[in-house]
Amino acid sequence: MILFKRPDDLIDFIQKKRKSIIKIGFVPTMGALHQGHISLINKSKSENDITICSIFVNPTQFNNPNDFEKYPITIEADIEQLELNGCDILFMPSVDDIYPENFQKNNFELGYLDAILEGKHRSGHFQGVCMVVKRLLEIVNCDVLYLGQKDYQQCMVIKKMATDLKIPVEIKISPTIREKNGLAMSSRNKRLNETQKESALVIFEVLCFLKENIFEINIDDLKETSMEKLIAKGFDVDYLEITDEILNPIAKAEKKQTIVALIAASIGDVRLIDNMMLNNANKAE
Ligand code: PAF
Repeated sequence: MILFKRPDDLIDFIQKKRKSIIKIGFVPTMGALHQGHISLINKSKSENDITICSIFVNPTQFNNPNDFEKYPITIEADIEQLELNGCDILFMPSVDDIYPENFQKNNFELGYLDAILEGKHRSGHFQGVCMVVKRLLEIVNCDVLYLGQKDYQQCMVIKKMATDLKIPVEIKISPTIREKNGLAMSSRNKRLNETQKESALVIFEVLCFLKENIFEINIDDLKETSMEKLIAKGFDVDYLEITDEILNPIAKAEKKQTIVALIAASIGDVRLIDNMMLNNANKAE
């Protein structure tokens, strides 16, 4: 694996490689890698000539300074995992490399996506995500960008930004990878103590409960019972929402519609998000 720290060095390298046709896959991360990230690396490896992973804890997407300070950093273990899984290039820029003095800030038009769910509870978060992803895409110049469904709203936001700005990249979204007990893999899980980890299983249980009952019980009652389950385990819930495919809340479940459940909740000072497709109307029978 080749490690690049300076954007210009990576840009030069890619320009040279481009002469002998190559397809580049890119997995952006903030490090503290887990099997979810590795599944994206593996997918990219199977579909591209070169796979680039970036590790950059992006300060502009943290609305809470405490969350930024406590974000887990496990660089040595990350490098080991990436090497073990055959990642070709690791890009690990500094904050000054990504946001130099002359950096031009865009204001990204994200519409309602910036005002609901994560957008509502983490003001400025998606502007920061778009800022860094746009910059990273300019540097890595990839053909395919790999994202995880765990950040469902982030995937929609990045797709919108890429479409609006006509960034020529294909975006592929892969399913959430879970621990055997159902807990969605997340870098933030590293900050949970054993008791909190045990309590966190309730998020998956609630999502399964919603999936099992979405056509049996009305949505208001489902939400109320689910909230009670989360609160009983000590969670402070930012939102528990049941929406259509593009995140509009629904009041009634219909079989012909894609239905998604999304949860954001904190235990102690660790905030977790998860989601599940309750009904997939796009899936061929
Ligand atoms: O999902 C993440 O880890 C981050 O939001 C991303 C896409 C790497 C941008 O910093």
